[in-house]
Amino acid sequence: MDATVRPARPSDKEPLMSFIRNVWGGHDYIPFVWEDWLKSDRGRMFVVEVGGVPVGMNRVQFLEDGSAWFEGVRVHPDFRGKGLASMLGENSMRVAKERGIRVYRLTSGSKNRLAHRQITRIEFNEVARFSVYEPENRDLKPRGKARRVTIEEVEEARRIIEGSKEFRLGTGVFWHNFAAASLSKGVIEKLVEEGSVWRLGEALAVVRMGKEGAPAWEEVCFVGGRAADAMKLVKSLVGRSRRAKERWVFVPQRSPLIHHLRRSGFKRNYAMILFERRAVNG
Ligand SMILES: CC(C)(COP(=O)(O)OP(=O)(O)OC[C@H]1O[C@@H](n2cnc3c(N)ncnc32)[C@H](O)[C@@H]1OP(=O)(O)O)[C@@H](O)C(=O)NCCC(=O)NCCS
Repeated sequence: MDATVRPARPSDKEPLMSFIRNVWGGHDYIPFVWEDWLKSDRGRMFVVEVGGVPVGMNRVQFLEDGSAWFEGVRVHPDFRGKGLASMLGENSMRVAKERGIRVYRLTSGSKNRLAHRQITRIEFNEVARFSVYEPENRDLKPRGKARRVTIEEVEEARRIIEGSKEFRLGTGVFWHNFAAASLSKGVIEKLVEEGSVWRLGEALAVVRMGKEGAPAWEEVCFVGGRAADAMKLVKSLVGRSRRAKERWVFVPQRSPLIHHLRRSGFKRNYAMILFERRAVNG
């Protein structure tokens, strides 16, 4: 089979959407992000074609922690199991490596077994599992006394973040737009500077607005520290944005906070696995 990978272009939309619109019972998000991804300079989108016809796609995004995030891999049902998704993945690793990027990550729904086989085939390893919680009451009003962390408190913020179970269980990442990046020293400083880090007692949270193609949503990208304080912090942050329709809280599985979230009227919407691969020397 003669397959080639090349950068995506506007004319690929129609042949790709002809099958993507049926993926996941018609709930795939790709149609909503396609235009943004095509224009974006934060990432590159690729297509695999067979006999000159586009039959698959993916995207590599360059994240603020200096890692590469692989997403949006889709292969036409008639062309699956032939190594095309793996070709797209290898191409993305080449592109990222050329930019000097050494850490590659991606996520997949916890039940997507076919995808997991393909992901392990390109030598990514599972490093953590996360759940995404949302309040059962969508009109939840924030209650409590969270306060924004100031730049003078960065070291203290790092101590709480790095010392938390959530940091350890989640391999030190936070989530933004459903992509995971490391809470490195530089990233924590940037998040504090932009006013996204909040504290209550011995707990810290990173809160941002997320947006990709859809209406903006509110996301607690990371929350960690003493579980009871962390729960109070979530309650005082979730619901602050009136324009957000959805509100998400990202928590690594086995975090003691999960018990508190369930008791406080939050339900699990989605469970996902974080996979990672690091470049070998050379
Ligand atoms: C997951 C997906 C991208 C895999 O694409 P693919 O081109 O079939 O994958 P590859 O041929 O490169 O990899 C093949 C491996 O994946 C598995 N696989 C995935 N889908 C398969 C299919 N429909 N038929 C056969 N094998 C499949 C095989 O087990 C194979 O591993 P093995 O040869 O070691 O047994 C494709 O099934 C797809 O588009 N699914 C719908 C969207 C989706 O789930 N995307 C991933 C989100 S994380």
